[in-house]
Amino acid sequence: MTKTALITGASSGIGKAFAQVFSRKKHNLILVARSEDKLNALKADLEKEHGIEAVVFSCDLTNTAAIEQLFEQIQQQSLTVDVLINNAGYGDYGEFASSDWEKLQGMILLNTLALTHLSRLFLPDMIARGFGQILNVASTAAFQPGPMMAVYFATKAYVLSLSEAISAEVEETGVDVTVLCPGPTQSNFGQVAGMNKIPSMSNVTSDQFPTALEVAEYGYNSLQEKEVVAVHGALNKILTFTPRLMPRQLIRTGVKKFMAG
Ligand SMILES: NC(=O)c1ccc[n+]([C@@H]2O[C@H](COP(=O)([O-])OP(=O)(O)OC[C@H]3O[C@@H](n4cnc5c(N)ncnc54)[C@H](OP(=O)(O)O)[C@@H]3O)[C@@H](O)[C@H]2O)c1
Repeated sequence: MTKTALITGASSGIGKAFAQVFSRKKHNLILVARSEDKLNALKADLEKEHGIEAVVFSCDLTNTAAIEQLFEQIQQQSLTVDVLINNAGYGDYGEFASSDWEKLQGMILLNTLALTHLSRLFLPDMIARGFGQILNVASTAAFQPGPMMAVYFATKAYVLSLSEAISAEVEETGVDVTVLCPGPTQSNFGQVAGMNKIPSMSNVTSDQFPTALEVAEYGYNSLQEKEVVAVHGALNKILTFTPRLMPRQLIRTGVKKFMAG
């Protein structure tokens, strides 16, 4: 039977690439983000190209009531979510003490609360059916504290920890949980987060990074292979492993030097 994948943040970047990968694999799609026009254009393209069915929900996932409404609408339309891709997220560069509270609050709500809420809403049905796949998008930022992007790094550490814990709880239920940890990737993320303000990144252009499609394909394969923690790229694997061998003080001063210049 055709499976259905719900993808948050499907209007751009890695989420849009996930929609392309899952439609190529003949999944029907539930596309979620705020930009309804972009989602509708993507729906039309993917339905035409791959002969799948896509449903669009324009939803601000920082709003808890909107998440509950989204869940109810999915139930009312008798849609079954076999695959949940919690991808929507953003960052913001700058010192914690002077950062914009609205942005920080929204980041925590989107990167952690929405992901937790959606997982909690859809997981029981997956367990009851004996099948389900959840892919949570964290980041290489999850593996160390991140001065100058303190809240973003902390939200991704939360996603890593939560995903690993749930994955252990659902072992042998037929549900698999993968946490995808990309490094810098071509998308709108850098622009939204103001990454150009990082002094050591000033000469780096985004075409030096992997494409969103490469990252999404890696995420798809990791999910099928039931990998729990999936760090994209050889260099990122080394960079996320080495902090485990270093004193924490050295890690935070090293990251601060890189981030603040
Ligand atoms: N690109 C990187 O370098 C990188 C590295 C590591 C991890 N990541 C992670 O990858 C994930 C995807 O990011 P990306 O790189 O693809 O960035 P992106 O191109 O900026 O995409 C972000 C997506 O999130 C959606 N979104 C933002 N606010 C939302 C809200 N309030 N409610 C619903 N949807 C919302 C956006 O859609 P709308 O604006 O239409 O709502 C968009 O579809 C994020 O979790 C990010 O932290 C990215």
